[in-house]
Amino acid sequence: MKFDLKGFIAPGSEEEALVRQLDPSRLPQHVAVIMDGNGRWAEKRKKPRIEGHRAGSKAVQEVVEACARLGIRVLTLYAFSKENWKRPKREVARLWRLLEDYLQKQDKQLIKNKIRLIVIGQREGIPGSVERELERVETLTRAHDGLTVVLALNYSGRSEIVDAIKRILQSPGVNPESLDEAEFARHLDTAGIPDPDLLIRTSGELRISNFLLWQIAYSEIWITPVLWPDFRRREFLRALLDFQKRERRFGAVHARSSENA
Ligand code: IPE
Ligand code: IPE
Ligand code: MG
Repeated sequence: MKFDLKGFIAPGSEEEALVRQLDPSRLPQHVAVIMDGNGRWAEKRKKPRIEGHRAGSKAVQEVVEACARLGIRVLTLYAFSKENWKRPKREVARLWRLLEDYLQKQDKQLIKNKIRLIVIGQREGIPGSVERELERVETLTRAHDGLTVVLALNYSGRSEIVDAIKRILQSPGVNPESLDEAEFARHLDTAGIPDPDLLIRTSGELRISNFLLWQIAYSEIWITPVLWPDFRRREFLRALLDFQKRERRFGAVHARSSENA
């Protein structure tokens, strides 16, 4: 087998058959995920919405480990949008508590797999105890050189762009003539992180919901009706296989067609 999947993917399983079809040299460097459908998953089971979020955290663990094992460099997870504050107070409070628990329990997995955790989004507004836990885990994992997990928390793509403009206007000696896309991107929260190659959204909604507006200019998009808590290794491998069938043209024509101009 081309990947280190011992103890993670059972020999003879459907997942193993999917992994065998993957081309390790053509994996996306960066996968970004809009983890949606936790509430509907719970509603279908007549459970409170928080149970859906709890089940969703298991899917997070599985996808994080899959990325680490496959050698994907960056995984960005949209966990809480700035707009999510519009939800009932109780759901919001429970979501943040769940995240805090998750961070407290994840140390071993992050260390074992040499995963680095970083956060994007606005720090102001995040509850203090969560903020402290985030800082602790960011510091703990700073030197790790395996997978980078980017958590989008209290995140809004439009706010990120406005904040970047503010930073540019405040930087000394700013020269509008020399401002270009690369320079602009250095002022975003995602400075230094390559743009997502693959964007996944679960639960079938056909929208972006204010996620990474600048960075997804040329991302390949995969939308599945599967609800986030049901999104496991198998679904993730299917998304990767579909990605490998895409032809990324970036506005150019395919090498074959250029002869027929
Ligand atoms: C995604 O699931 C998790 C967050 C937005 C925090 P939802 O809670 O949006 O689930 P649905 O869309 O209501 O099913
Ligand atoms: C997007 O899901 C935000 C996260 C996954 C954190 P939402 O459920 O908030 O998006 P909308 O409201 O359906 O657009
Ligand atoms: Mg939703």
